[in-house]
Amino acid sequence: MCGIVGYIGKKRAVDVILKGLSYLEYRGYDSAGVALISNNAVHIYKAPGKLSNLKEILSQEKEENINANIGIGHTRWATHGLPTEVNAHPHHCNCGSLTIVHNGIIENYKDLKPDLEKKGCKFLSQTDTEVAAHLIAHEFADTKDLLKAVQNAVKKLKGAYAFCVTHKTMPDRIIAARKNAPLIIGVGEGENFIASDIPAIIEYTKKAIYLSDNQVAEIKTDSIKIYDKNNNLIANKIENLPFEPIALSKMGYKHFMLKEIHEQPDVVRNVLIDKIKSENLAVVLDDVKLSKEQLTKINRIQIIACGTSLHAGLVGKYIFEELTGIPVDVEASSEYIYRNTIADENTLVIGISQSGETADTITAIKQAKEKNSHILIITNRKDSAMARLADSLLPVNAGIEVSVAATKSYMAQLLSLYLLAIYMAENSTKCNNSSLIKEIKKELLTLPSKLETILNDTKNIENIAKKYSSFKNFIFIARGINYPTALEGALKLKEISYINATGYPAGELKHGPIAMLDETMPVLAILNEGVVYDKVLSNCEEAKARQAKLIGVTNFIDEKHKNLFDDAVIIPEIPDIVSPALNIVVLQLLAYHISEYLGKDVDQPRNLAKSVTVE
Ligand code: AGP
Repeated sequence: MCGIVGYIGKKRAVDVILKGLSYLEYRGYDSAGVALISNNAVHIYKAPGKLSNLKEILSQEKEENINANIGIGHTRWATHGLPTEVNAHPHHCNCGSLTIVHNGIIENYKDLKPDLEKKGCKFLSQTDTEVAAHLIAHEFADTKDLLKAVQNAVKKLKGAYAFCVTHKTMPDRIIAARKNAPLIIGVGEGENFIASDIPAIIEYTKKAIYLSDNQVAEIKTDSIKIYDKNNNLIANKIENLPFEPIALSKMGYKHFMLKEIHEQPDVVRNVLIDKIKSENLAVVLDDVKLSKEQLTKINRIQIIACGTSLHAGLVGKYIFEELTGIPVDVEASSEYIYRNTIADENTLVIGISQSGETADTITAIKQAKEKNSHILIITNRKDSAMARLADSLLPVNAGIEVSVAATKSYMAQLLSLYLLAIYMAENSTKCNNSSLIKEIKKELLTLPSKLETILNDTKNIENIAKKYSSFKNFIFIARGINYPTALEGALKLKEISYINATGYPAGELKHGPIAMLDETMPVLAILNEGVVYDKVLSNCEEAKARQAKLIGVTNFIDEKHKNLFDDAVIIPEIPDIVSPALNIVVLQLLAYHISEYLGKDVDQPRNLAKSVTVE
């Protein structure tokens, strides 16, 4: 959460920073700000709300004030204090010479504040960040060296941070530091960049240094010096960045979310390539660093994740238990932590995360690591903090996902879980279901064309979206492997339309939620031909008897039940065990079109951020 961009070079810093921030708005968008040093003066501009508000202010500013070649900028997701102008970053010291932009939480800010106040520091905001500004300024007063000031200050800070600091008297450098929050330094020629994430700088350079925890960097136009936690200068490790700028374009779609939904057939092809060649060949997963002997010893799987990734994990439970016979627990990362979890060296712990940055999941994974369990990470960001904790790393290769609501990364996570379960079944002596495995492989290979069938004709879904967009509450029901699909469909609708939607196992309806049903509460039922089909139909009848409007998402409706549903989306034929990968696309589209019809901010829904780096 929170996006940081810093620039030093020959370009107009404000242009680079604003453009960079626009690619980081997914990290937070409740306020934004920049600090520029020009003509021996610091100029700070801030605005609550989206980046466009800041741009508006800057467009009216005198050119001489903003024509700087050094600057730092920030887009905020509020943790401490309301999303107001005064709480927006950059923050500064009493005299305004030192400025800072920060991502993370300074956990001991309340302990540090009284002492700083005694020394005369005036606090203007409710943020934790302002404490860091004053602390570094005091160190600077003693050392007269910005690098040393930051090096001294970080030793007093607890919590998570990535920050950039500038000082009016040293307009030739930006100091950056990180601990448990991402920060990269883009390497240019006669210019350098700092950013929370690659999209902010990819237009300018494809070379970068990933700052590690507890490192501090001094960045000038023609040099980058990185120091470890003992203040020793270390060698720069320059890496090639994995993205192309084209990945950040909407490619003619109205929103990134719609583009990303439509990318899913190719995402599936991408995940499967070189891993499943045919239904008759074994799955190849070179990324799994467990020997056959270790695989056979695994007697428990724990899946840890948050939000959409957690729902993928819940689908994974059904697949693993069916194919490997190993018991699987799936838990929200935030519930896994700070208790005595049961795991040992025969436990496989799977962390799932699109961003690889989610603080709750990182903490949970670190906790599991202490139990000597094998840590397997499924992530869309193989350059992330979580990836670095992995014993086995399964990158899902969905490509950069810009929309805050996860869609294609969920699809890639599901596919990775199918592959992993099959791989484990095929490589362990416990494998006992080769005909089912063969069927799943065959289905996965045809999945892209079935997805295209849905995506090529979305008119029916759009009409349903329009018809139901005025309802204030929804219930999503399903059973078995599609129960997590109901949860994920409800989450998508909540996130982007702010409509109250709840997912339930269909059989649970009668144990309480049915009390809410009447004509104002539509029920969306996911039902695939298979063992639970008739049971879900009965639950639909129960809902209908309470006058609820019924929407069916199914691959089959027989003659008898044709009139049960008020509306239905018929998906291509698919076996139950693979159906979550098809059903979810209908629910993504439904949520998208409802949100779009209601005129909501589809790609950047209120109060959310793409990566949640606070616990
Ligand atoms: C997805 O639509 C959500 N924005 C959110 O639930 C997300 O899945 C969750 O925060 C976990 O993120 P991660 O996958 O990056 O760890």
